[in-house]
Amino acid sequence: MSKSRILFQLSGSIACYKACQVISRLVQADFEVQPVCTQAALQFIGPATLEGLTGKPVFSDTFTPGRMLDHIHLTKWADLAIVCPATADVINRLASGNASDCVGSLFLAYDLKKPYLIAPAMNHQMMAHPATRASLEKLQSWNVQVLSTASGYQACGDVGPGRLLEPDEIFAAIQKALS
Ligand SMILES: Cc1cc2nc3c(=O)[nH]c(=O)nc-3n(C[C@H](O)[C@H](O)[C@H](O)COP(=O)(O)O)c2cc1C
Repeated sequence: MSKSRILFQLSGSIACYKACQVISRLVQADFEVQPVCTQAALQFIGPATLEGLTGKPVFSDTFTPGRMLDHIHLTKWADLAIVCPATADVINRLASGNASDCVGSLFLAYDLKKPYLIAPAMNHQMMAHPATRASLEKLQSWNVQVLSTASGYQACGDVGPGRLLEPDEIFAAIQKALS
């Protein structure tokens, strides 16, 4: 049986380090993983780590020479797409159909009959904001699967909901979505 192909997209959250653990789990379980980063994600995690974990160069710029159509091709290649961690910013962009970066373009070109997961990670106030809540509801109405968040200590010192789920839980959600 061929390996399942995961389009793994990271946005600019402190939780990018936890996403690397999910990617490592996926690779060890014989998934093929293509890493994609927003420009902000690259402030948190380096391409060397992601390419080292997956064996594939990170896609982070729609206008990369030699990869000009990857914002379409990768959507056909993938069996499942996930944004992990998903910032408030990327969630709101996706819900508004904004294709100004590679994650937005990939989303619009993606066939939502295939699984598309969002694993939010953000401060509890950002999570509770009506803009974020409305965007998550809109995305769910388009067949996007929004994972829950954990409650607890946040990097800013606050305590509340909005923490990225633990890597094992995200790995299990991906397996379930593909089954
Ligand atoms: C140290 C630091 C941590 C951040 N963590 C988060 C976060 O967990 N969730 C979030 O929504 N935004 C977070 N941000 C803000 C985002 O990086 C910012 O909104 C950025 O524009 C997101 O862009 P992107 O969605 O294209 O990756 C953080 C910013 C900094 C400087």
